[in-house]
Amino acid sequence: MIRFGKVEIENFLSIGNVSIDFSNRGLVAVLGPNGAGKSSLVVDSILYGLYGLTEKYGNERDKVINRFVGKDCHIHIPITVDGVNVEIDSYRGHHKFKDEVLLKIDGKDSRGRTNQYTWDKIVKILDMDAIGFQNSIIFGQSMSQYAGLPDAQQKAIVERLLGCSWIPKAYELAKTSSFELTKELVLIADRFDVLDGKIEKIKTDIDFYTAKYTDFEGERAKKIKEVLAGIKELKSTKVLEKEIKEYQDKISTNEALVDGQVQLSVDIRKLDLEINGFEVKNTAVVADMAKLNKKIANLAETKIADDLRCDICGQTITNESVEDFVKHLNSELELKKTETYEYKIKIKARKEERQPLLDEQTNLQKLEQNNRLLVSALNKAKTVISIVDKENARVEERNENCHKRVNEIKKETNTYQDSIDKLKKEMLPLSEEKDKLTVEYKTKKADLPYHEFIVEFYSNRGFKSFLIESVIPAMNDYAATYSHALGGKFDITFSPQKQLKTKGEVREKFNVEVFNRQGAEVYEGNSNGERRAIDAVVLFVLGELASNRLNKRVSILILDDVFEKLDDETCNSIIKVLKMMSVPKGMREEEYQDLPERESVFVLTHLESLKSQFDNKIQIRRDHNGFTTIEEN
Ligand SMILES: Nc1ncnc2c1ncn2[C@@H]1O[C@H](COP(=O)(O)OP(=O)(O)O)[C@@H](O)[C@H]1O
Ligand SMILES: [Mg+2]
Repeated sequence: MIRFGKVEIENFLSIGNVSIDFSNRGLVAVLGPNGAGKSSLVVDSILYGLYGLTEKYGNERDKVINRFVGKDCHIHIPITVDGVNVEIDSYRGHHKFKDEVLLKIDGKDSRGRTNQYTWDKIVKILDMDAIGFQNSIIFGQSMSQYAGLPDAQQKAIVERLLGCSWIPKAYELAKTSSFELTKELVLIADRFDVLDGKIEKIKTDIDFYTAKYTDFEGERAKKIKEVLAGIKELKSTKVLEKEIKEYQDKISTNEALVDGQVQLSVDIRKLDLEINGFEVKNTAVVADMAKLNKKIANLAETKIADDLRCDICGQTITNESVEDFVKHLNSELELKKTETYEYKIKIKARKEERQPLLDEQTNLQKLEQNNRLLVSALNKAKTVISIVDKENARVEERNENCHKRVNEIKKETNTYQDSIDKLKKEMLPLSEEKDKLTVEYKTKKADLPYHEFIVEFYSNRGFKSFLIESVIPAMNDYAATYSHALGGKFDITFSPQKQLKTKGEVREKFNVEVFNRQGAEVYEGNSNGERRAIDAVVLFVLGELASNRLNKRVSILILDDVFEKLDDETCNSIIKVLKMMSVPKGMREEEYQDLPERESVFVLTHLESLKSQFDNKIQIRRDHNGFTTIEEN
């Protein structure tokens, strides 16, 4: 609850120096002729004090300074907001405080960095902006012929009271931004198509050159294969070398053995000589034996002549001696026999001795023979190796040429790569842009339903109509309450839609229907006075509508010149209603129980005739200097 205390006013509009208490006043009439300063005192003073605005001058603040004084304008407003003390001092052209706005909360300086910050703070403290404040506590002439206004204006007023007059603007903005988004999406899609076309074209080219590239590489591989087919393996000489090594080993082993052959030959030669010697001697002995045998045989046939002598010993042989001689020859023969026997033994012994030597010699000769074979085999192997080596050298040279050729083929440039690279380079920024556009498109596209929702939300069918529809029942309740309090002559119904008679279609309209139980069916059908009474009901209903939108209630209600043209009866009923509103519910008559409570109700009027209806009166006049003066009761 926001409660007002005693407001002090200096050099403000027509006021020189006046204070007026707003607390617990009940119903008060503020009386005075036009231009006396009623609105300045009750309406503009608090509007300016709280929000820096006036009904007369809006936010042209320098104009509020009293023209005759021309300086030191000051309004002091003490209020309590849910029990917290708040004091606001608004200065304009002040000799000491200049244009400052001071704010104290619980006695503590709480002003903002600038006046605007301070006013913003005040809006926060009151939880109410100037329009909300004005609509809910100041009932002025501007709203007093509501029911007679065209639908669109009625609707506009209700929208203003509901604080939703900004919605059409928001709707336009949302529509524009939604349209813009759609346009952007189309542009992106177009650009996307262009990029896609370009990219597709490049891709086709790349495919073409890639095929060419692949063909070239295929050719290259084929050529290399062909060249490599000419490469031959080198023949290995390892086996031969191994063989040679084996031959050499064998040969050197054999040679070592053959070296012993010299001594063997010497030994055999020696034995041969000995055997030969013995054989010669033996042959002589055998010849001797043959001679002896012949002699013996001859001796047996022949007589022995004189002077026969022994061939051997030269002795004269006699008959007697022949026998002896034969004997002698036989013994000689025996000797020879022994001798030859001994030779034979010796020869045999020597031969026996020589045989193993001969065998060995034969063996060695075989080895020698073998070695010759080995040497020849070895030489042959060496020849083969040298042939293979030569052949290998040739093969190696040929192979080297092949490798050189392969390297050359490998080095041959595939010029299609350049074309492909160039195309890819060309494509890169395009695909990048395309990717970027895809993301952008997705993001924006995702935003679209949101935008569409916002447009729908702000449209007449949207939030606003919901808001209006949601308050209609409450408005109709208030209309019933006030209508009843004002005599119950009218049924006043607010409706958000109006049925079009021609087509039977329902169009978005806002409308107040008035049914006069004793008269016309529509507002226009009523008399002037009746209409003003209806206006009064509507005025209260709209005031309640505005108050209910606020989070806080305000303790005061001001009616500024709304009684013009009302007949006495209606005036009296309204004054009764206001009086009931200004007393606690417990003290009211039965039919006024539902009316909301206001601590102080100020009725500003120039109608002297109403004076008698009020217990509390404030008389406003201008003194001879032009300053507004007040006289209470
Ligand atoms: N800056 C000002 N200095 C002095 N008088 C002013 C100034 N601005 C307006 N006025 C006068 O103040 C008078 C009071 O007006 P107002 O409070 O609206 O009278 P009413 O009693 O009819 O509501 C008017 O005559 C108006 O010309
Ligand atoms: Mg006035």
